[in-house]
Amino acid sequence: MNVSDAVSSRYSVRGYLPEPLPDELITEIFDIARLAPSNTNCQPWHVAVVSGDPRIRLEAAICALADEGVPPNREFPAAKDALTGVYLERRRACGWGYYGTMGVTREDREGRAALARKNFEFFGAPHVAFFSMPRSMDRSNAFDMGIFLQTVMLVMQEKGVGCIAQGALASYPDPVREIADIPEENGILFGLSFGWEDKEAHINTVRMPREPLETFFSHTS
Ligand SMILES: Cc1cc2nc3c(=O)[nH]c(=O)nc-3n(C[C@H](O)[C@H](O)[C@H](O)COP(=O)(O)O)c2cc1C
Repeated sequence: MNVSDAVSSRYSVRGYLPEPLPDELITEIFDIARLAPSNTNCQPWHVAVVSGDPRIRLEAAICALADEGVPPNREFPAAKDALTGVYLERRRACGWGYYGTMGVTREDREGRAALARKNFEFFGAPHVAFFSMPRSMDRSNAFDMGIFLQTVMLVMQEKGVGCIAQGALASYPDPVREIADIPEENGILFGLSFGWEDKEAHINTVRMPREPLETFFSHTS
């Protein structure tokens, strides 16, 4: 698989088989992704993977907080009203695309809540990785984290491993810190659930559209 094929064929996987990946494959993926570029080569990323029994305990702990309605406690809070105009519209369309594929209507609050909760169930994936960087850093270093994340996702695509990036997994850092190995000085930016895709799962038929090139690209020569 070449890079163009990996970019074109990748999509977020929200339904998984329970079988875990071989440890060596997980290590290999992150060992390749560590070659990602970063601003001044500072490589701000730290990754903590959770699998097996700790992953089950972590799911229970995060879901308990979400079910109790505990407000999210992010270590890198999003700017208030960060998304407006066309960006807000795209976010809404993303949500409705997901709910619509699953047959959940706008009126069905419980159905929507159940689908949103799947974030905290890691969508059934046997592995979840938490990506963090030093809290002293800011958005300029978050670029590096995004480049690193995409590198991980493309290597997973090449290896036939499904995954989904999840900002939602930065919502409740306390149980994550109790179970996963997160450096004290770091803040969690996002999670990545991953494993073998369940090809039979209807949830994996969700496909998100992209804007055409002319909406964001110009070339002056
Ligand atoms: C940094 C980041 C955070 C994301 N957070 C979530 C999330 O919390 N929950 C979710 O269901 N999808 C999440 N996504 C997946 C996006 O919704 C998805 O990438 C986008 O809709 C495009 O769809 P595709 O990945 O299938 O191409 C996230 C993606 C990125 C890159």
